[in-house]
Amino acid sequence: MKKIKIILVVLIVLFIIIQFIPAGIPRNKPEDEKSIAKSSLVTGQVLNQLKKSCFDCHSDQTKLPWYAKIAPSSWLLSGHINEGKSHLNFSEWEDYSRREKIGLLEAIKDEVESGNMPLKSYLLIHRDARLDSEKISLLSKWTSETSDKILE
Ligand code: HEC
Repeated sequence: MKKIKIILVVLIVLFIIIQFIPAGIPRNKPEDEKSIAKSSLVTGQVLNQLKKSCFDCHSDQTKLPWYAKIAPSSWLLSGHINEGKSHLNFSEWEDYSRREKIGLLEAIKDEVESGNMPLKSYLLIHRDARLDSEKISLLSKWTSETSDKILE
């Protein structure tokens, strides 16, 4: 019994200590004209879906859950958000070159069709972010149409 108590105390102390390690979750920024949301490339329905399923990791408008304030879950979230944004940030859409935009649209199509995105761990908690086959084809059609528009 004594050992269990010691282990418990050590765990609690460790838990308290790790709360002081900064998680490095990026700050949100107000949406400006660089965002894909402000462009004519996206319709209401597609934008809504992107906001629901992708914006938490791929934009500067992340909606953080309560456990984002608690280590170690905050570290996991921080990793997802920082990495996600480094690949694709819808809030900085206009900073991408034409070629990058086309490449990203292609990647979005691949990720959505293969079911890689949104991340599985995210979907466990964010059920409304799930994509059924109808939503997948909506997004996939949008990527092709948008590439065509950009190439025009
Ligand atoms: C929980 C966070 C999270 C969500 C939600 C999310 N992503 Fe990602 N995304 C990531 C991370 C992390 C990476 C980089 C690592 C990887 O590819 O698995 C990534 C990578 C990507 C890439 C780049 C792949 C490449 O080949 O470079 C694309 C495109 C992408 N995501 C699209 C989407 C789309 C579209 C959605 C919504 C339908 C979405 N993601 C939702 C976290 C997320």
